[in-house]
Amino acid sequence: MMNYSKSALSTIPKAKKNPFFGNTLDFVRNPLSFLEKMQKEFGEAGLVKLNLVNRDFFLVLTPEDTKHVLQENNRNYHKSEAYKVLAIFLGNGLLTSEGDFWRRQRKLAQPAFYKQRLALMVEMMNEEVMNLLKRWEQHTKNEALDMSEEMLNLTLRIVTKALFSTDVKHRLGGISESLNEIMHFADNTLKSFIRFPLHIPTPRNQRFKRAVEKVEAVIYSIIEGRREELKQDENVRYDDLLDMLIHAKDEETGETMNNQQLRDEVTTIFMAGHETTANALSWALYLLSKNTDVAQKLREEINTVLGEDGMPTFENVRELRYTLQVVQEVMRLYPPAWIMGRKALGEDQLSGHPIEANTYLILPIYLLHRNPAYWQRPNEFYPDHFLPENTKNRPTYAYIPFGGGPRMCVGNNFALMEMQIVLALLIRKMDFLLVEKNETKPDPLVTLRPKKALKMKIKTVDR
Ligand code: HEM
Repeated sequence: MMNYSKSALSTIPKAKKNPFFGNTLDFVRNPLSFLEKMQKEFGEAGLVKLNLVNRDFFLVLTPEDTKHVLQENNRNYHKSEAYKVLAIFLGNGLLTSEGDFWRRQRKLAQPAFYKQRLALMVEMMNEEVMNLLKRWEQHTKNEALDMSEEMLNLTLRIVTKALFSTDVKHRLGGISESLNEIMHFADNTLKSFIRFPLHIPTPRNQRFKRAVEKVEAVIYSIIEGRREELKQDENVRYDDLLDMLIHAKDEETGETMNNQQLRDEVTTIFMAGHETTANALSWALYLLSKNTDVAQKLREEINTVLGEDGMPTFENVRELRYTLQVVQEVMRLYPPAWIMGRKALGEDQLSGHPIEANTYLILPIYLLHRNPAYWQRPNEFYPDHFLPENTKNRPTYAYIPFGGGPRMCVGNNFALMEMQIVLALLIRKMDFLLVEKNETKPDPLVTLRPKKALKMKIKTVDR
């Protein structure tokens, strides 16, 4: 038990606040510029106390404290209340569960993301991108496309196939609208001060419930279909994530997951596994269209490694080093998961200040990624930030697009490989031209999305 005097607690730096609203209005009006202001004022202190919606939060500003929370003392922290909004839909899946239950589920799900499993996904990813290129060929060249939407559809198709193979296409009709509805609901709920409990039939609550029911019905019918097939022939196996999850067995008890647990894990992977990646890809196309020198260098690497018509393989993707640097740099500037929240279970210490039990922490990934102490050109698109000579002296927790410690994103290698493959195949063949005056800014919702529709024209590369 740590004992702190009142004076030790009072030395914790505090942001100036409004007597009625605390820091809520400033934060909600423009979260990113508010965070940047906090970084400037309190960066040296490493920690600052904020008051949001009548509750105290500590904003953690250093990689060292972030590492302490996510890794060194991770058992002292649970996810914060904001994740409860996600849990309404994701249930007790990996992203939202805690403690021993989470530990067991993570152990069961982890092998689905091992390298040999990912290797099986490469061809499927290639096929989906090639189908997209074919669809684009039929598209009138002068008409602009909304690239955020294109990338969202692409990553949704990829994660669907990764989870369920190819046999479920017909059952997924209309699901993307429902997913959209669910994401909007989560965004709005996190942003608004007044939340109507779900049992109050507001139009938004009703739409959300209908969307959840629709997605849930599809997922349950797929799970039940698989179970039925296994009843007919217990040796039926698929090369997909659902197959791994259905067969995953607890080492100690020999138990497998029931339908409810499968539903929660599948839904979590479904949601966590496509919107984030789509955002990163949209930002990549945006940044490449504005940095043609980087796009050119990227295309040279792709042509050297893959040739004019060669396809990515699990082996040659590793040679796409500059492509990886580009992906890393995109997620530095625009981390899809731009902020994370935690709650301290017991007392702790951060930047020399005492942290009491039940304290809420905000971990602003966005700020770490733009802190001038760790980045030569913090606000520029500069993939050389990720050259080995530039990364070696940087604290690991200065760059955490996938979080860190035991709760680090289970799909990180899947996502990195997917983004390399998508970019390699698209950039080899296409130039992406941003429609004029359509500059965009990041919109910090549940994930960091481009604020406006990302309208782009596409043009086949001249050879
Ligand atoms: C660019 C793409 C992605 C980004 C930036 C991203 C980011 C993150 C972050 C930051 C976390 C940790 C959240 C926290 O600790 O509070 C996380 C967790 C998670 N992600 Fe991802 N993710 C991406 C892609 C994926 C993909 C492709 C999948 C699955 C196919 C996935 C599945 C998950 C799951 C299941 C968790 C919860 C892990 C756990 O707590 O055990 N993510 N992700």
